[in-house]
Amino acid sequence: MGQRTEIRRVFADVDALNRGAAEELCTRCTGAVERQGKCSLVLSGGNTPQGLYQLLAREYRERVPWKNMDIYWGDERYVPHNDPKSNYRRAREILLDQVPIEPTRIHPIPTSSPDPEEAARSYESLLRQKFTGGRATFDIVLLGVGTDGHVASLFPGSTALQERERWVVVTSAPAPPVTRISLTFPALNAASEILLLVSGVEKSAILLELERANKGTGSPLPVSKLSPAGPLLFFVDRQAAGA
Ligand code: 6PG
Repeated sequence: MGQRTEIRRVFADVDALNRGAAEELCTRCTGAVERQGKCSLVLSGGNTPQGLYQLLAREYRERVPWKNMDIYWGDERYVPHNDPKSNYRRAREILLDQVPIEPTRIHPIPTSSPDPEEAARSYESLLRQKFTGGRATFDIVLLGVGTDGHVASLFPGSTALQERERWVVVTSAPAPPVTRISLTFPALNAASEILLLVSGVEKSAILLELERANKGTGSPLPVSKLSPAGPLLFFVDRQAAGA
């Protein structure tokens, strides 16, 4: 893997961070559609991106090429899609039900099978049909980071961190909902760009450890294994930056 291009932008507060992320997404998605007629966007779960999703559904609604967008998820809690904890449900309510996107271009991680392994393999099969070149070349992957340094549902100590072949696996979270479906690093790192949103003082320790890791000590944190084909953008507010 080539040397990753890591770019950090610090914003005054979470509102400015969300606006910066909305601008980046509009630019990236519009450029992808101009180049290739479509754009594949991977959404994140968790709380951090909720403000961004609201901006994309309202103020930035007309600046996203929704009719040419394909929407995926980086991870999912293994709960029904109508469960309040579902990443899919939260993204639909706040964003996708508010914008002119074709339902056939929304690709949730399935959670209806009694066997989560079947769901993981089914999603991987879908991805391999969509990305036929053997790499999950998403145009942009949106991620948050947990206070333990996890990204998507790739948690510290998980064997999934060492996965090198599969694109989608079942993982276990330290907090309920325990069963998760997650993209792996081979899938995440095939992306043309990763946009990672970090907000709040509770995330400052993670960023400090990453700074130390970048100075050569290395880090076991899952987030430190992000190394996309294109830019890795950290959009951080002052609280998380410790500024
Ligand atoms: C999830 C997310 C998860 C999230 C981090 C950060 O399913 O919860 O995919 O990886 O991005 O846990 O969560 P917050 O944004 O709520 O801090």
